[in-house]
Amino acid sequence: MDFKALPKIELHAHLTGSVTRRTLHDIWEAKHKSQQTTLEDPLVVMPEGKPDYNLKSFFPLFSSYIYELLTDVPSIQQATTSVLQGFLEDGVVYLELRTTPRATPSLTPEDYITTILDAIAAFEQTHHEMHTRLILSIDRRHDVSTAENILALAEKYRGRVVGLDLCGDPSARPDGQISVFTPIFQRASLPLTVHFGECVASGSPEELETLLSWHPGRLGHAICLDEESKKVIRERNLCLELLLSCNVQAGMTQGGFANHHFGEWLACDGVKVSLGTDDVGVFGSELSDEYRLAAEHFGLDQKQICALARQGIEAIFGGEDEKERLRQVMWI
Ligand code: IMP
Ligand code: ZN
Repeated sequence: MDFKALPKIELHAHLTGSVTRRTLHDIWEAKHKSQQTTLEDPLVVMPEGKPDYNLKSFFPLFSSYIYELLTDVPSIQQATTSVLQGFLEDGVVYLELRTTPRATPSLTPEDYITTILDAIAAFEQTHHEMHTRLILSIDRRHDVSTAENILALAEKYRGRVVGLDLCGDPSARPDGQISVFTPIFQRASLPLTVHFGECVASGSPEELETLLSWHPGRLGHAICLDEESKKVIRERNLCLELLLSCNVQAGMTQGGFANHHFGEWLACDGVKVSLGTDDVGVFGSELSDEYRLAAEHFGLDQKQICALARQGIEAIFGGEDEKERLRQVMWI
């Protein structure tokens, strides 16, 4: 089966984690030549063919490196455009890209978001096959007022921004302390997706219960779950954004691909599964690779793969017209 040609939906991709090492290198090279950066070459910091990041080594990569490189309009524009090009070439027809609004020395968080929205709009003018919407991420380490500001931005750019996410290092605010964000997520009028039970630290019953009390439409990862949260997922027929390569390569799940909880949920009627890449720039596995892995390790034939790809349609945040377009273009 041609997994690249298969029209696909990507619902769980972090923008700056999706930038390839090659693009980061190009951005770095231009800045290095004009003496705008003293950072080391991305191809040295993140050698190509090194996808073995774990939860400890992963998060500092952003805060102490990638964010230092993607600081201004040209670099953020270039990074965004190359990410969109990568998904398009991989056969993605609908993309919900998420990103954490942040200030840089020359940009406010709002400038950061409008730069990305402008890059998306410019890309869509010449590439009509893929539609892209943005989700804004609140980082678990954020303080409450930063999170409030992100909600305000999401509401302001609603339409092109279609949802709100909770992400970040799962060891921050353990044991239900993420409840500081409850008033914000409960007040949000946009649909929610949250990183859910990524590891033991973020899989306490207190945290899972709190996150479910926000009524998210989708859950990312869903690894360390208790029976109660599994029951709620089944009762609400939620959509799970499952990330095979990221989980296996980062050692977040054990027993390789064949033992991934994707198998358990695929067999669960009503619950929707949407495969995603999380951070293709870091883990190096494109969405077409994720479908190939699912077919290989779970014995899915072409019809089952097409049905799997279509499961995400009903769970997109981009509205009914978009769902209808996807029902037309996605293979049966
Ligand atoms: P950005 O929001 O576009 O800058 O994408 C990178 C950010 O996404 C990182 O700083 C993390 O906070 C978040 N992120 C990426 N992958 C994961 C994940 O697997 N779990 C939780 N957060 C993640
Ligand atoms: Zn993620």
